[in-house]
Amino acid sequence: MASQITAPRGTRDLRPEETPAWNRVESVARDLARRYAFERIETPLFERVDLFARGLGESSDAVEKEMFRVSGAKGSEEEAAPWALRPEPTAGIVRAFIEHGMHVRPGPLRLTMIGPMFRYDRPQAGRYRQFSQWDVEVIGDAGPAVDAELVELGHRFYAEVGLTDVVARLNSIGDDACRPGYRDALIEYFAAHESRLSEDSRRRLRVNPLRVLDDKELPADLADGAPRGVDHLCVACREHFDALRALLDALGVRYELDHRLVRGLDYYTRTAFEFYVAGREGQQQALGGGGRYDGLVELLGGRPSPGIGFGIGLDRTILAMDEQEVTLPVRAPLVAVLGGGDDHLMRLRVAGGLREAGVAVRPDGSSRRLGKQLESAAKAGARWAVIVGEGDVMALKDLDSGAQRDGVSIHEVVAAVSE
Ligand code: HAM
Repeated sequence: MASQITAPRGTRDLRPEETPAWNRVESVARDLARRYAFERIETPLFERVDLFARGLGESSDAVEKEMFRVSGAKGSEEEAAPWALRPEPTAGIVRAFIEHGMHVRPGPLRLTMIGPMFRYDRPQAGRYRQFSQWDVEVIGDAGPAVDAELVELGHRFYAEVGLTDVVARLNSIGDDACRPGYRDALIEYFAAHESRLSEDSRRRLRVNPLRVLDDKELPADLADGAPRGVDHLCVACREHFDALRALLDALGVRYELDHRLVRGLDYYTRTAFEFYVAGREGQQQALGGGGRYDGLVELLGGRPSPGIGFGIGLDRTILAMDEQEVTLPVRAPLVAVLGGGDDHLMRLRVAGGLREAGVAVRPDGSSRRLGKQLESAAKAGARWAVIVGEGDVMALKDLDSGAQRDGVSIHEVVAAVSE
C-alpha cells in the first residue's frame, strides 16, 4: 500500500459533522455584517512581504517569526518572490482601499470579510497555522462612537452564536503624541528589572517595550507595578477613551479594563480590545481582538485616514461553543427517495420535484432490495422515505415511527415533510 499523506501540521479538515457549527458562525457573521451595513471585500491570500513588514511591524511575531513565505514556480523570474500568505486581513484591506482610491467613496467605509489566515506558529489547542477570521473594518471614522459600536457588535456576535460569559477587555495605548512618553516610562521601568525578563522581552525592550507587557513569562509583580498606558494618555486620547467608556456604559455593553492589553501588531493606536470567555483570559485564548489604527493608511502610502476594526477567530469561537455545549439547529429534515427495481428515472424525477419545492433529497441510486434501501436511508439520517412504485404511485414513510401512507402526491409529501 502507498504511504499515507496527512494534512500539514497546524491545519485541519472541516469534516461534515463539524459543518453545523461552521454554518452557524458564518451565517451569524454574514447576517450581522448586513445588519451593521458592512460591504464585502475580498483580497488575495498572499501579498508582498513588505506590506506586512510595514503594516504589522518588523518586530511583531506575525512578521518576525510566523511568516509563511510564498515563491513563484521553480526557474521562473519570481522563484524568490517576496510574497507571504496573509497572517491577518487588515493590511491587505487597507492596501486595497488605497490602491483603488476608495477614499473618494462616501465614507466612512465599512468593509468585511471571512476567510483563512496563515501564521507559521507552533501548533497547539486553539492555535493553528491556518485559521479563519471574521473581519470588519471601518475606514474614515475617528470615533469614539464607532469604537463603541464595534465592541457592541463583537458582543452581539458571540451572543448570537450562542456563547455566554464573553467579556471584552479594553485598553487605550495612546497615539503618536503620547505613546513615546509611555514607551520611555516602560523602558525605564523594565530596564531596572532587566534580569527578570525573558529573553524575548529583553530583546524587545528597546524596540517595542509595549510587547513586554503581554509576555506570558513576565512575573506577576513586575506586570502589576508597570506603568499603565491610561496614565500616560494625552488630552485628546484621554477624552476619546473616556467618551468610549461612557458610551459603552450607557449602552450596557460589558467590558473590563486591562492595562496589559497592548495587541501584537504595531499598527494600533488608542482603542485596543479583545474578547474572552470569562475566566479564560490566558494567552492563545482570545476569541477575537481589534482596535484603532489611525496611522496605518498613511503608513501604507494613502491619504491620512483613521481606521478601526476587529478580527474574530472562528476556530476558537467554535471550540468555545463545543465547550459550552451550544445546541445547534438540527438539519432540515432529509428525504430519501427509494424505489424497487431499476427505475432510476422515476426516482430522479420525484427527487427533482421535491427539490424544486425546497426539500433536501437524497435519492438512492442502487438497485438493492427496498428493505436495504430503507435501512441505509435511516442510517444516513433521513427522516422520511418516499417510495416510488410503478407509474406515478408513491408512498411516504416516516422513518422515526415507521408509519406509511400510500398513494400520496408530491404536494402531500412536501406538506408532510415541511410541517
Ligand atoms: P489578532 O488578534 O492577531 O488580530 O487575531 C484576531 C483573532 O484571530 C484572535 O483573537 C484569535 O481568535 C484568532 N487567531 C489569531 N491567531 C490564531 C491562530 N494561530 N490560530 C487560531 N486562531 C487565531 C488581527 O488579526 C487583526 N487584524 C484584527 C483587527 C482588524 N484589528 C483591526 N482590524
